[in-house]
This record gives sequence, structure tokens and C-alpha cells, in this order.
Amino acid sequence: MTYAAGRHFLQIPGPTNVPDVVLRAMSAATIDHRGPEFQELASGLLRDIKPVFGTTNPVVIYPATGTGAWEAALTNTLSPGDTVLAFETGHFATLWQEMARGLGLHVDFVPGDWRHGADPDVVAEKLAADTAHRIKAVCVVHNETSTGVTSRVPEIRAAIDSAGHPALLLVDTISSLGSIDYRHDEWGVDVTVAGSQKGLMLPPGMSFNAISDKALNAAKTACLPKIFWDWGPMLTANERGFFPYTPNTNLMYGLREALRLLYDEGLENVFARHARHAAATRAAVRGWGLEVLCQDEREHSGALTAVLMPEGVDADKVRAIILDRFDMSLGAGLGKLAGKIFRIGHLGAFNDLTLAGTLAGVQMGLALAGAPADPRGLQDALELLQND
Ligand SMILES: Cc1ncc(COP(=O)(O)O)c(C=O)c1O
Repeated sequence: MTYAAGRHFLQIPGPTNVPDVVLRAMSAATIDHRGPEFQELASGLLRDIKPVFGTTNPVVIYPATGTGAWEAALTNTLSPGDTVLAFETGHFATLWQEMARGLGLHVDFVPGDWRHGADPDVVAEKLAADTAHRIKAVCVVHNETSTGVTSRVPEIRAAIDSAGHPALLLVDTISSLGSIDYRHDEWGVDVTVAGSQKGLMLPPGMSFNAISDKALNAAKTACLPKIFWDWGPMLTANERGFFPYTPNTNLMYGLREALRLLYDEGLENVFARHARHAAATRAAVRGWGLEVLCQDEREHSGALTAVLMPEGVDADKVRAIILDRFDMSLGAGLGKLAGKIFRIGHLGAFNDLTLAGTLAGVQMGLALAGAPADPRGLQDALELLQND
């Protein structure tokens, strides 16, 4: 491989660019995870991680990727044969329900077109019809990373409440936490699942469960098998600032620094920054003469934008040209969207000029691939960044 000058543009919707200060923090020597220095690090983190979830309840930190935290959410709250309600919002929602089935749960999987979020009206209907309370949990992917559609969690909570149904609400925020407004306590979420490699600006390998009192209570009787994921020993050890097994200490150094960055900027400002970049990206897509995959104005993702290719244009070819010519990685279409869309990640450590560079690269790549690429696209985005 020849040397590529300048910085690679990692504009996939996670893993995201890790800020230099976070990388430097992680390069410190690994310490004894049973010693007092670690105890101070972990106690501080277990306290300071809470505001980013919008909770005052416990947050568990796993040395695992997001898939592990999915499994933890299910196995700690449910028992074999329980029914869960889930929504086919895209690739990740599909994988989560496959996991639920694999664990021995029944899944009522509401079909979807991968262009809309989970429908609160369907939640209300399904739960109202379930008078025997067979449905034990509603599983929702907040931000579908495969489509750029953000489900309306507060409306889903209201739908559960309107049906007077006791189901738990389990929410995947793997690509929304730290990028899109999210409030575990205020929205009445029971388990929030999150990962390190997106809005938290860390490498992959760490994931989280934020846990409501109701979920803690459900855990007392839930009997799906679990050892590594068991909240019980984890919460007991966490009380003293320790873990029941070896934690990923260096990622914890990084997390301490990443949280400092997010809180210094202010979560409201972080969310507004992402929403503004998402609006500029949509302006570019429409200006190029292309279509944004998400079809509901209320559900556009602040974290990424999925761009639909016209018939006859292979999205993977566009991505390959952009990688080869401009050293930029964009997200591939996943599952049934393979080759039909590409995804522009605008989450994490990202500013106006990174977005301008990203959109310039996409515009040039589209033109080289013979796809619609009206220069009005970049122009519209720049005008929005300049004036808003
Ligand atoms: C919304 C969502 N859920 C779950 C996952 C799976 O997480 P991981 O790949 O960290 O195991 C991802 C990964 O990108 C995701 O975006």
C-alpha cells in the first residue's frame, strides 16, 4: 500500500473518529483492576456515565460490543417462552429479534419497510389487544444505524402507558447515545443498551445497560441463562468500584476523557450540532438530485443519513470510488439495502469543515460513478452551515 497523505475520512456511522485526547488517555499504563487507583477510576465513571443516559439509576459497563449488551438486556429481564414485541425498522432491529428467538423467546415482529421508525399506534394496538399480558417487553432500536431513521421513543412510552400495559421498554441506543437527545428516566425506559464506538467517540469493545427499578425487579425472577451478563454480581462489585471479572481498563481511561468532552460542550449543544449537520447533509442529498431513505420528517437521524441510489446505480461502486480516490470510508447498505444505499455518518467528533469535506468527497464520487451529483448539493449544504 502506498502512503496516503492527510487524514483518512472515517465517515461510517460508527466506529467514529476517536479524538486525539481520547487516544492519548487510553495510552496510559494498564493498572491493577483490584487496586485503589482502579477503584477511584471505576467509581467516578459509574457515577459520571449516568447523565449521558439521562438517568440516576445504575449503568452497567461490559467489556463487550453492543451485541453483548443486547443479550444482557434480554437475559436479565426475561424467561424462556416470554413474548416480546419488536419492529422491523432495519438490519439491527432484525438482528436483535433473531437473537431474542435464539434465546428461546417468542417474538411478535411487526413488519416494516426500513424507511420508518417503530409506529407508536401499532404499539398501542398490540398492547391493548394483549389483555392476558403475554407481551413482557417492547424492544425498540432508537436510531436504526442501517437506515438513518430515529424512532420516537417518548411516543412509544406514551402508547404503552395509554394501553395500561406492564411490558418493559428495552431500547437500543447504540448509535444515538451522545449524539441524539435521549432520556432514560424521563422517557420511562427500562433498559437502555449502548455501545462505545459511536457518539461516545471511543473504539469498539465497551457496552452498557442503564437499568430502571422496574427492570431490576424483573431481574429477580427472569430465568434465561446468563453468567457473563448477569447484572447481580456486576452491580454488587460495582458498589465498591470493582468488576466481577477483568474490565477493559484502557477503554475506561478513554471513556473518562470522552465524557469530559461531551459534558464540556454540553449535551444539548452536542445534540444540536448533530441535528444541524444532519440537516445540511439532507440539503446536500436533495440538491444532488437524490433521495434520503428516511421518509418521515419527524424521524430523520441526527447521527447518519442514508442516501438512496437511483435504479441502475450501485451504491457499493460509489463507495469504492470514494475510498479509492478520496480516502473516505462511507457506510455500506446492510441486509436488504445492500448496494441500494450508502450511509454518511455525521456523528461523534465532527465539525462544519469535516462535514464540508465529507460532502465534497461524496459529490465528486457520485459524479465519477455517473450518479446524480448536481453541484447545488454541496452549495446548499454550505449555505445552511454558513447561515444557520
Ligand atoms: C443500532 C445498533 N445496534 C446494535 C449494533 C451491534 O453492535 P456491535 O457491533 O457493537 O456488537 C449496532 C452496530 O453497529 C448498531 O448500530
